[in-house]
Amino acid sequence: MKPRNRMVLAAAAVLSLSSAIGLYGARGVADAADAIVQPGQQGGSSQGVKAPANQVPEDPAVTRGRYVAIAGDCAACHTDPHQGKPFAGGYALETPFGKLLASNITSDKATGIGSWTEAEFTRAVREGKGKDGENLYPAMPYNAYVKVSDQDMHDLWAYMQTVPAVDNKVVSNQLPFPFNIRLMMMGWNLLFFDKTPFVPVANASAQINRGAYLVQGLGHCAACHTAKNFLGGDKSGAFLQGGDLAGWHAPQITGNRYVGIGGWTPDQVVQYLKTGSNDVAVASGPMAEAVTNSTQHMTNDDLLAIAAYLQSLPGSTQTKPQPLTATEQAMKQGANVYSANCSACHNSDGKGINQLAAGLGNNPAVQAANAQSLMTTVLQGGRGAVTLDNPTSGAMPSFAWKLSDQQVAAVLTYIRNTWGNSAPAVAATQVAQVRKDLKLPAQLSAH
Ligand code: HEC
Ligand code: HEC
Ligand code: HEC
Repeated sequence: MKPRNRMVLAAAAVLSLSSAIGLYGARGVADAADAIVQPGQQGGSSQGVKAPANQVPEDPAVTRGRYVAIAGDCAACHTDPHQGKPFAGGYALETPFGKLLASNITSDKATGIGSWTEAEFTRAVREGKGKDGENLYPAMPYNAYVKVSDQDMHDLWAYMQTVPAVDNKVVSNQLPFPFNIRLMMMGWNLLFFDKTPFVPVANASAQINRGAYLVQGLGHCAACHTAKNFLGGDKSGAFLQGGDLAGWHAPQITGNRYVGIGGWTPDQVVQYLKTGSNDVAVASGPMAEAVTNSTQHMTNDDLLAIAAYLQSLPGSTQTKPQPLTATEQAMKQGANVYSANCSACHNSDGKGINQLAAGLGNNPAVQAANAQSLMTTVLQGGRGAVTLDNPTSGAMPSFAWKLSDQQVAAVLTYIRNTWGNSAPAVAATQVAQVRKDLKLPAQLSAH
């Protein structure tokens, strides 16, 4: 490849979902799904999303299609950020080169997809082509949706046609020249777009195959949980073994028992996806949004299928190292910071408070090689996923003003090497970088 082509391609790659996802955590579309999930129909039900009561019975294809839209989390990006109108578009995915706005996909004829045919819609979702065949940017996760079945696409189309028309003109491509040239995506597609439809896992149960279908396709879990190469394509051999987002690390979610979820019971996985937390972990940041908008509304059978599939993946070969010893300087300092600032909520035994404050002991996310999410959570604070089963969730205060970089590094090193955890130490320089990236203030006064 000519160097210049390579450069253009590299630039183009930065426009892919993994890079555009930085602001995923700051979006305020937490209730997007509420607008599409009709009232009184989900909660702990294993029936999935049903038609509203007391009305003309809904076409079953529409009911199924609504569920497909929720499993695909279309509302996460396509909800209008100003008025919260689902599918009206306008939400900006920020890239280093400029903005890419998610399109209006309501049934409006002039500004939405009301004049599209089913074939054009299917091609957009599964192949990343606009109405006139132009390339869409991979910030729209068509490289995952390509695995969606014909039946699900058909049902999704039936549902989309019932979405009320919203007149909202969105110009998606706000990128400056030359990044606004859609043809650039041709190269990206050639390299990274695997058009293979869903292939069932050989010799696996129907349950595992249902899970594989949901995870690889509609759920687009790999968009965050798989590491990317320098061109923004999925790294090979790294499927669901952890990916970096701006400010967050989406941990490994394979059957690896140390940094993956191999040590969780299937019920713990289901509980996390359904309620936003289990007795070990609390979903925060981008994952809290995915739970709030999407997974909490999925049936228990589907969540069990996802758990079965994820846990069947061998994942990376990482094994547990020896924990740092309690006598090391950082560990001693960390223990002090912990008991003064953290133990009230997370407990001296690191077990946290069920459904409220994350447990920290034997929590795979706490032991991930990349401590980005931990640094973000401690500096910036956070809130667990808000779900029907846990409408209040818990909040973690920001410690940016209270703790120095050194103290944050020490307390994280401590929690990563206590209560059965073991993971590399966190350095103060790493914390300083995150503080800078998040534009958080320095510690107020040194103590
Ligand atoms: C992670 C964000 C994201 C998610 C999730 C997402 N989209 Fe998109 N979508 C986009 C963006 C950004 C564009 C505009 C891309 C462009 O113009 O190149 C887009 C474009 C589209 C288009 C083309 C519209 C047009 O006018 O050209 C359709 C149709 C579409 N999306 C449907 C869907 C459906 C259906 C789902 C759920 C199954 C979905 N999208 C999920 C971000 C997303
Ligand atoms: C928009 C990005 C994004 C998407 C899409 C996403 N995740 Fe996550 N996920 C994350 C982040 C970030 C975390 C870490 C959250 C935290 O530390 O609280 C996470 C955490 C998790 C965890 C907990 C792991 C642990 O060790 O604590 C599970 C399980 C999980 N995700 C499953 C899924 C599944 C299944 C899908 C697809 C249906 C999915 N995720 C899609 C970003 C994402
Ligand atoms: C007021 C209660 C409270 C205090 C004090 C508190 N936390 Fe938290 N913490 C929470 C809650 C609630 C969550 C879950 C929500 C979230 O992740 O934002 C959480 C989440 C976390 C997580 C993320 C775990 C995961 O699975 O991703 C880490 C790490 C953490 N806290 C560390 C600390 C440290 C270190 C301190 C002390 C410096 C501390 N917390 C003090 C309430 C608290």
